[in-house]
Amino acid sequence: MFYLIGLGLGDAKDITVKGLEIVKQCDKVLLEGYTSILTVGKEILENFYGRPLTIADREICESSIDGILQEAKDKDIALLVVGDPLGATTHTDMLLRAKELGVKTQIVHNASIMNAVSCCGLQLYNFGETVSIPYWTETWKPDSFFKKIIDNYSRNLHTLCLLDIKVKEPTEESLTKKVRQYMEPKFMSVKEAASQLIEIIKNNECDAGLTASSLAVGLSRVGAPDQNIAAKTLEEMKDFDLGPPLHSLVIPAPSLHPIEVDFLEQFR
Ligand SMILES: C[S@@+](CC[C@H](N)C(=O)[O-])C[C@H]1O[C@@H](n2cnc3c(N)ncnc32)[C@H](O)[C@@H]1O
Repeated sequence: MFYLIGLGLGDAKDITVKGLEIVKQCDKVLLEGYTSILTVGKEILENFYGRPLTIADREICESSIDGILQEAKDKDIALLVVGDPLGATTHTDMLLRAKELGVKTQIVHNASIMNAVSCCGLQLYNFGETVSIPYWTETWKPDSFFKKIIDNYSRNLHTLCLLDIKVKEPTEESLTKKVRQYMEPKFMSVKEAASQLIEIIKNNECDAGLTASSLAVGLSRVGAPDQNIAAKTLEEMKDFDLGPPLHSLVIPAPSLHPIEVDFLEQFR
């Protein structure tokens, strides 16, 4: 059996009872380590689960997945994923591949940033399409996510912006070499996201009314004891330090429900 197990958002104890029971009885347990992180590291999880974990980076999850699934034909293998295993991640491709190979699968769901974002008081019913904001480089500044933010904004819907994570990314120089070198891990902050958004707003005609003075909500370490939420203009958010990662940014709809307004007030 191949298990996809959600770990929730905070620390080791956010795994479900069902998830923990499976982890304890599996032959092999992998920890997916490139789409999200918990507030605690691998060693703390290993101590809590009472067993060793193997980190599964992007290369393993994308290139070596067939080998893992073949093994799961007659062994129990679990892949642990931070948040929900199917929340804003691309693990459905693994389930499809498992089906093709005739491997049984089971999903154990958990809290995801996709629902926990509601801790800021904006109602989940009023969210439109979620977007991902990628890190820009000197020569690559994609902004296609902005159109989706504007589409949501024009329809009076909030946008959850998930922010880029770079973990074990090969350096550009090493791409053509035999031996890969990797960049230091980095996690986009709401500061960086707001500053990229303001640059796009400056360079684009925007009839919908979204400006640098529009409201934005920054969230960090949702689900952890040091979770932080701030409601500010995009311009203010660009200079605001929301603390250690992970961060998400919400662009609220232009017209809010009175309860949403009241709830957000405490984060201003
Ligand atoms: C690809 S999504 C992973 C989603 C994960 N599987 C889930 O269900 O929550 C990763 C992005 O979600 C956001 N995120 C995840 N956990 C978060 C948290 N605890 N607090 C704030 N943002 C978070 C960050 O923007 C991060 O870069």
